[in-house]
Amino acid sequence: MRVLVAGDRGYIGAVLVPLFMAAGHEVVGLDAGWYDGCDFGPQPRGYVSRTGDIRDQRPADLVGFDAVVNLAAISNDPVGHLNPDATYSVNDHGAAHLARVARDAGVTRYLFSSSCSLYGDAGDDAVTEKSDFHPVTPYGVSKAMAEQRIHAFADSHFSPTYLRNATAYGSSPRLRADIVVNNLTGLALTRGEVRLQSDGLPWRPLVHVEDIARAFLAVLSADRDVVHDQAFNVGRDEDVVQVRTVAELVSERTGAPVTFAEGASPDTRNYRVDFGKIQSLVPAFQPAWTVSAGVDELVRDMHRHGLTAQEFEHTFVRLERINRLQSEGLLDEHLRRSHDGAGLHGAVAANQ
Ligand SMILES: NC(=O)c1ccc[n+]([C@@H]2O[C@H](COP(=O)([O-])OP(=O)(O)OC[C@H]3O[C@@H](n4cnc5c(N)ncnc54)[C@H](O)[C@@H]3O)[C@@H](O)[C@H]2O)c1
Repeated sequence: MRVLVAGDRGYIGAVLVPLFMAAGHEVVGLDAGWYDGCDFGPQPRGYVSRTGDIRDQRPADLVGFDAVVNLAAISNDPVGHLNPDATYSVNDHGAAHLARVARDAGVTRYLFSSSCSLYGDAGDDAVTEKSDFHPVTPYGVSKAMAEQRIHAFADSHFSPTYLRNATAYGSSPRLRADIVVNNLTGLALTRGEVRLQSDGLPWRPLVHVEDIARAFLAVLSADRDVVHDQAFNVGRDEDVVQVRTVAELVSERTGAPVTFAEGASPDTRNYRVDFGKIQSLVPAFQPAWTVSAGVDELVRDMHRHGLTAQEFEHTFVRLERINRLQSEGLLDEHLRRSHDGAGLHGAVAANQ
């Protein structure tokens, strides 16, 4: 298929694009370039990535594609809190706009990168795709709203699918340091301690970044009837673990002790997710990673890269990077670019 991947130059995109190309798909990227230059190793090659904003796409830009994969977003709670209006404008209205122009351009498949955060304050039972949404942050709300808005475009010619990913972990050429497994591993290597900000007791659904990419690939190849206007939780039961267990694992692998930040308090965000639907309806999705294998991979790649504390705490933290681009006037309050790509890239060089 000819696939437009929006957000191809981010953490998941940089892993997903090579996987799609290896499977024989022709990929074109589309990305605002916020993390250009924040490299953790060589970037994917052999495809064209357009620089642009999903909010500005027109049907003419999408003519000739069979599918759109939309990963482009403000991708976590802290950045979402910076300016909730900007978060809704990209994650909700922007995602729906891209779906509408894709449909108008004759694209038949739209894979939306949603999140388990839309379940929010979910109670004690494991959430399934039929559970209600109780998002507790602008980020979670934006994903819930986007799904509902995109759903309105589903028809016999246009099939959106909503992949509600668990929290990712693992190595990527566009590493993120602000997600729990990556964060604890990087802290162990750069600060010599696995520092927990909470008591570490809550359960977290986790999934390796490559397994997320595999889920998108499997959904793209699935019969349209099976995935038409359907939501899927993306993860695996074996990877629903307590944060404290992750910390102990990292400690075991690196020799760094587990410590608790001053005032570390009970963490009340606690939810469990049921991954049965994707397993039964999309059997081609075969997740391959475990958290312990992912920690080993991160340790290896962080050593190979020579990761410094400065990079780990600034270059690879989404909030830090966005704050920096804004303070340098390269992104405005609506998270729109004020300069060309060279400007964004320049800010990184100064960051390192
Ligand atoms: N990483 C996770 O743990 C996780 C978990 C659940 C869901 N998700 C979702 O998966 C998607 C990808 O996540 P990620 O971790 O790769 O995030 P990321 O922040 O690393 O990448 C997002 C990419 O989108 C681009 N982008 C942002 N706004 C844009 C816009 N308006 N137009 C064009 N490009 C834009 C950024 O430049 C960046 O390259 C996001 O939608 C995120 O919400 C991620």
